[in-house]
Amino acid sequence: MSIEVKNISYTYMAKTPFERKALENVTLTIEKGEFVAIIGHTGSGKSTLAEHLNGLLVPSTGEVCVDGVNLKGKGNDVRLAKHKVGIVFQYPEHQIFAETIYEDIAFGPRNSGKAEKEVEIQVRNAMQFVGLDYDLFAQRSPFQLSGGQMRRVAIAGVIAMEPDYLIMDEPSAGLDPVSRDAIFTQLMAVFKKRDIAVILITHSMEEAAQYADRLLVMSKGQIAIDGKTSEVFKEQRGTLQEVGLDVPESIKLTDLLCAKGLKIEGQALTKEQLVEYIKKAKGWS
Ligand SMILES: Nc1ncnc2c1ncn2[C@@H]1O[C@H](COP(=O)(O)OP(=O)(O)O)[C@@H](O)[C@H]1O
Ligand SMILES: [Mg+2]
Repeated sequence: MSIEVKNISYTYMAKTPFERKALENVTLTIEKGEFVAIIGHTGSGKSTLAEHLNGLLVPSTGEVCVDGVNLKGKGNDVRLAKHKVGIVFQYPEHQIFAETIYEDIAFGPRNSGKAEKEVEIQVRNAMQFVGLDYDLFAQRSPFQLSGGQMRRVAIAGVIAMEPDYLIMDEPSAGLDPVSRDAIFTQLMAVFKKRDIAVILITHSMEEAAQYADRLLVMSKGQIAIDGKTSEVFKEQRGTLQEVGLDVPESIKLTDLLCAKGLKIEGQALTKEQLVEYIKKAKGWS
């Protein structure tokens, strides 16, 4: 069970003066059960790649298969394959449109032909997942909510589709730290509870290091690095720098402490890990 991307390229506004090559010969496989982060500079092609994974964009060349089904076709199996991939777009709250939170979250499940009773169950489950009380919020207008709450509604709308592959395009962009943590707590709960793949697109090295087991680094429409998170930060710092990226702050801090003579063993991917390493180096634990 996987998404296979085979040598795809994509050009926006092809054959016009505004032609823009956004993806070039991208090949990768994402298996169910993986937590992958896609990182890279603005304009490196992350969102364009994401939109190929559920058939929103059709590659100029190459192909995308979900569980063995090529998304290029038109049949019922293609429709079902596309439904397995859910995308939470960047600033998803801009796409909220319904009059009530219930209606907004119900849109996807209803569209895939579910009976209303089942739709309601999925809306309830999805709201519970993102921490919005059903009785309190279901009939409210989504437009009265705070930014963080609106984003949770948008995420619930995708969760309600019960995707096997969940893509989140910069889910924490512009959020306060509390809303950000809430969203990641929910995301990890979904990831652990169901055997899905999560594909997290992020600008933040800290987020990528904390949550993802595998990193895909994009640069100029290509995959510059594809590897295990810990190995990428250990072995590919030069390449990261070449594409204008850096390692997480916890690793930089480790370097500074080591340069000052503290003997830290290991690579701290998070602040918490660094604290543990420092305690050990100091003999405090
Ligand atoms: N709708 C579009 N029309 C034309 N060019 C686009 C469009 N969307 C993105 N691009 C261009 O494609 C490239 C990749 O963009 P994008 O996939 O949005 O990158 P990222 O998500 O990494 O910031 C950029 O050069 C961007 O300007
Ligand atoms: Mg983007």
